[in-house]
Amino acid sequence: MKLWGGRFNKESSKLLEKFNASITFDIRMYKEDIMGSIAHSKMLAKQNIISKEEQEKIEKALKEIELEIDNDELEFSLADEDIHMAIEKRLIQKIGDTGKKLHTARSRNDQVALDIRLYLKKEIKNIKEIIIDLLKVIKEVAKNNKEVILPGYTHLQRAQPILFAHHLLAYFEMLKRDYDRLNDLYKRVDVMPLGASALAGTTYNIDRHFVAKELGFGKVTNNSLDSVSDRDFIAETNFVIAMIAMHMSRFSEEIILWATSEFGFINLDDAYSTGSSIMPQKKNPDIAELVRGKTGRIYGNLISILTVMKGLPLAYNKDTQEDKEGVFDSIDNIKISLEIFKEMLATIKVNKENMIKDIYKGFINATDIADYLAKKGIPFREAHEVVGKLVAYCEENNKYLNELTFDEYKKFNEKFEEDIIEKAKIETCIKDRNSYGGTSYSEVERQLKEAEKFLKN
Ligand code: ARG
Repeated sequence: MKLWGGRFNKESSKLLEKFNASITFDIRMYKEDIMGSIAHSKMLAKQNIISKEEQEKIEKALKEIELEIDNDELEFSLADEDIHMAIEKRLIQKIGDTGKKLHTARSRNDQVALDIRLYLKKEIKNIKEIIIDLLKVIKEVAKNNKEVILPGYTHLQRAQPILFAHHLLAYFEMLKRDYDRLNDLYKRVDVMPLGASALAGTTYNIDRHFVAKELGFGKVTNNSLDSVSDRDFIAETNFVIAMIAMHMSRFSEEIILWATSEFGFINLDDAYSTGSSIMPQKKNPDIAELVRGKTGRIYGNLISILTVMKGLPLAYNKDTQEDKEGVFDSIDNIKISLEIFKEMLATIKVNKENMIKDIYKGFINATDIADYLAKKGIPFREAHEVVGKLVAYCEENNKYLNELTFDEYKKFNEKFEEDIIEKAKIETCIKDRNSYGGTSYSEVERQLKEAEKFLKN
C-alpha cells in the first residue's frame, strides 16, 4: 500500500513506478533525511504536537533505520518512490501508529528541499577541503621550482619570459577565487526550508527556528512558496562547480601540451599516465584529458537545471526531481577530478632545461629591448619600431636578439649602450618585471608568502 494510497482505487502501473521513482539516486541523502526527521520530531514534541515518548520512539527507530541502510540491510523498491517515503514506510513498519505521526506539519516538498540543502552543505565543505589540498600542491611545486624560467605565451606564441612558479600561481589565484565562491554559495544554501510544508505553511504551531538551530542552519527561509520551489541554490552549485571545472580544464590543457615531445616541459609520473594498446611507445596524459573532458558534462548539468526551472509555475512541481542527478554528478566528478589532478601534479617532473632551452627563440626579450630604449627617452612607439627592425634583421641573418653584438645594436639606434647586452639577458628580463603582481623573482616570492598565509588560515 502506498503512503498516499487513500484516494486511489487502483494499483499504480509498473512503468509509472519506474518513471516516477527517485529512490535510485536520492538514496544518497538518507543520512540527511533521517537527521531532518529527527530534528522535526524533536520540534513536534517541544511544541506538544506529539508526546515526548512518541518522539523518543521515533528517534530511536530512525537511528536503527540509519544503521540498517549503513549496513545495506534495507531493501528498497521502486514502489517506495523516494528516500523520504522509503524511510517513513520502514519507520511505520517498525513502530506502527507512532511512526505515522512523523509526517505531521510536513510535506515531502519541504522535506526534499531540506535534505538537498543539508547534503549540499556537507559537499560544499568537502569540495573546499579538496581545493585546499590542491592549492597546497600548487604552492609546493611552485616553491620547489622558484628559479625555473619558461616562455610565457599569448596567442600560444612566445611572448615574454616568465617564472614557472608565476605560471602555477596564476592557477592558485583562480582556485582561490573558486574557494571564495564556495563560501559565498554556502551562505545561500545554509537556509532552512522545513515548515513551509506543501506550499503555504501549516496550521500547526511549529517552531522553524528551533529546527534550524538543531540542524545547524544559519537562517530560516522567509516565504513558504519560495522554500519549496526554489532551486537556484542548486543552479548556483552547478555554476560554481562549472567554474572550477573550467579552471581545471585550462590547467589540464597546459599539462597536456607541456607533456608533448614538442614542448617537453614536464614528464608525467608512470603511476599517473596510461599506455596505448597498439603503440608500445605511448605514454598518455589521460588524467588531464579526462578532467578537461568532464567539463562538458558539468556544463551540461548547469544548463540542465536552468532549463528545468525556466518555465515552472509556483510552487512545487515534480519537474524539480530532475534537480538531483545533475548536481550529484557535478559534485562526484569535480571531487575526483580535483583529487586525481592533485596527485598527478604532485608527481610531475619539471624539465627546467627544456623550458629554458631555446628561450631566445621567438625573440622573447624584444619588449625588454624596446623598454630599454624608451627609458632612454625614445617614445615607446618609436622604440617598438626600432626593435621591430632589429627582429627583422635577426630573421634575415638567422640570429636571436641575444646573439647581437653591441656594434650591431648601435647601428639601429645610437641610444644603445654596452649594458644592452646584460639587459637583453633572460634573467634580467625576469628580474626587472618587478611591478606588483609581475613575474620577477621578488614578486613571485611575495606571492608565495601570501599563498602560504592563505593556506595557514
Ligand atoms: N522525490 C521528490 C523530489 O525529488 C520528492 C518530493 C515529491 N513531492 C511530491 N509531492 N511529489 O522532488
